[in-house]
Amino acid sequence: MPNFHTKNLELPNFPATFGESEFLLQAISKRDDRLVMCRCRGVELLIKIHQTKDGFLVKGDKITRPSNVAILQQALRDFRDWTNSKPFYSNIDSKKQKNLKHSPYLKDMNYFANEFKTDLEILVEVGFGSGRHLLYQAIKNPHTLVIGIEIHKPSIAQVLKQCELQNITNILVVDYDARTFLEFLKSNSVRAIFVHFPVPWDKKPHRRVISDAFISESKRVLQVGGTLELRTDSDNYFFYSFEEFLKQSRVELKIHKNRDLEISSKYEDRWKRLEKNIYDIIMTNQEFSKDVESVKTLKFEKRLDFRRVKDNFKEITMSFDGFFVHLERIYTIKENEGLIRVSFGSSHRNEHSYVYITQEGVSYMPNNILATKDNLNAHKIIEDLLWNM
Ligand SMILES: C[S@@+](CC[C@H](N)C(=O)[O-])C[C@H]1O[C@@H](n2cnc3c(N)ncnc32)[C@H](O)[C@@H]1O
Repeated sequence: MPNFHTKNLELPNFPATFGESEFLLQAISKRDDRLVMCRCRGVELLIKIHQTKDGFLVKGDKITRPSNVAILQQALRDFRDWTNSKPFYSNIDSKKQKNLKHSPYLKDMNYFANEFKTDLEILVEVGFGSGRHLLYQAIKNPHTLVIGIEIHKPSIAQVLKQCELQNITNILVVDYDARTFLEFLKSNSVRAIFVHFPVPWDKKPHRRVISDAFISESKRVLQVGGTLELRTDSDNYFFYSFEEFLKQSRVELKIHKNRDLEISSKYEDRWKRLEKNIYDIIMTNQEFSKDVESVKTLKFEKRLDFRRVKDNFKEITMSFDGFFVHLERIYTIKENEGLIRVSFGSSHRNEHSYVYITQEGVSYMPNNILATKDNLNAHKIIEDLLWNM
């Protein structure tokens, strides 16, 4: 994360424009941590100033970090010069970037929430790893859209490169947790979902991809006759999953042991060399599902008196069935304006955000948090807590 350490820092008056950045306002916590709201190259972000024993640590706030780190680096360079800081440590001039390179095949969740439309049949692969099976399916089915979901960035980068090299254009890759992704797809729109060699998570079963909720959501997005295919080398995961699949009504379940596929993944090659058993569970959906409302972004409708929130604010953590809410810290901008740092959502995908309270209204910052089921449930609790303080 770009940052610099400085002994001295002089904060001029807000708002101000310096270099490519506008410094709009500052918010201060009880512990005297400061957040500076900044707009750089059209992107709004927060810069965090933390007092240390030898001066100040200045860095981009994680929650509002732009996907293009170069923008944050520019904002920090402008901030350094605006505040006349002379850093004794800094990495904000570094050109090294850990971001995934822009690619027409790489899409974020806002794309799936707001723009995604296709008349093509869809195949989905969860946790594609080296991508052998994903690329194979895309080449074999040129008139089908193949969506690959993966959380491991080097695997994503590798597949994006292969798409370019082999001129494969019917793949979309998304860097997101598969357990939430399916909520963004229309009912009855997918021909097959592949989950090959998921991590068994024997010690942390709550992290498993296969669960009753995931299978139900898969069934909703599958066409009648569409399949969810689990392939695993773990006896334990197989037995666990089989019980989860049995909870579904109106499906056909098929089990294979040591079935050969036309394409073998890296993992599969390894297990075969070790002569391990490989199990498949293939669930065929037999039921048409109702349409569901598409996922939008979270919004607050009513105004809120920041003074009352500030007088009564307490850090709170609350856990519910599958989701949680944490009101973490409050920052004051002026008497009737402030920010509250919050985290919330499902236990497998936390959202971190600020609730930005002004006289004009209340919004999340960043304000593109998707209204998945768990986020929506958590949002209602946040509303309840803040408006009843
Ligand atoms: C054991 S590897 C298998 C890779 C590939 N399917 C194969 O057969 O070679 C499991 C993959 O799933 C990915 N993964 C784990 N949990 C995930 C999740 N919740 N959402 C998306 N991908 C996930 C991991 O990053 C990893 O690449």
